[in-house]
Amino acid sequence: MNELLTIAMPKGRIFEEALELLREAGYNLPPEFDDSRKLIIDVPDEQFRFFLAKPMDVATYVEHGVADVGIAGKDVLLEEERDVYELLDLNISRCYLAVAGLPDTKMNDVAPRVATKYPNVAEAYFREQGEQVEIIKLNGSIELAPIIGLSDRIVDIVSTGRTMKENGLVEYERIVDVTSRLIVNPASYRMKAGLIDELVTRLHEVVSEGGN
Ligand code: PRP
Repeated sequence: MNELLTIAMPKGRIFEEALELLREAGYNLPPEFDDSRKLIIDVPDEQFRFFLAKPMDVATYVEHGVADVGIAGKDVLLEEERDVYELLDLNISRCYLAVAGLPDTKMNDVAPRVATKYPNVAEAYFREQGEQVEIIKLNGSIELAPIIGLSDRIVDIVSTGRTMKENGLVEYERIVDVTSRLIVNPASYRMKAGLIDELVTRLHEVVSEGGN
């Protein structure tokens, strides 16, 4: 059997854009991708085996080497600091991490609280600002926290800005821009250099300009 490249793909909003990019790069991916609930999809003609993972878990699979490569948001890479190489900025799923909260409110002087899905990023950011805060880790719907009094601020992803706007929150500081990256397991990079180099070359040709 031909050698396979295993690829961890993030389910959810990045998935479609990542799929489109791979197709633009000339890879023939079956329609099965578009409406299946399968978590493993083999594409033997392209020597690919895809794992469909939670975005936050992609870098974990790649670090452990069960996936050779993966597509992960820079937000996840900053938060998790996994032992993987970042090969290419795919310039898709562009968004940013920001500090937000209710309008016209100051942070509580005594024990300011920050709710987030990104505790490490938030902790580092406020430390750099010289502010000591209590981080409250949540798993989603972060915008709820300041509205119902769980926190003074949130650190969260802003994409279109709709979620913040519709929930009456405002942005206070922009922390960092986020796009999706192609990441690789260091050992896989040595052992499957041919397949990986080809993937990088083909993706590089179709990645739009303006990445960072
Ligand atoms: C993300 C993020 C914001 C929202 C931002 O949440 O945490 O809530 O998207 O997007 P917008 O600026 O386009 O409104 P996601 O939809 O991933 O769900 P979550 O609440 O489970 O984190």
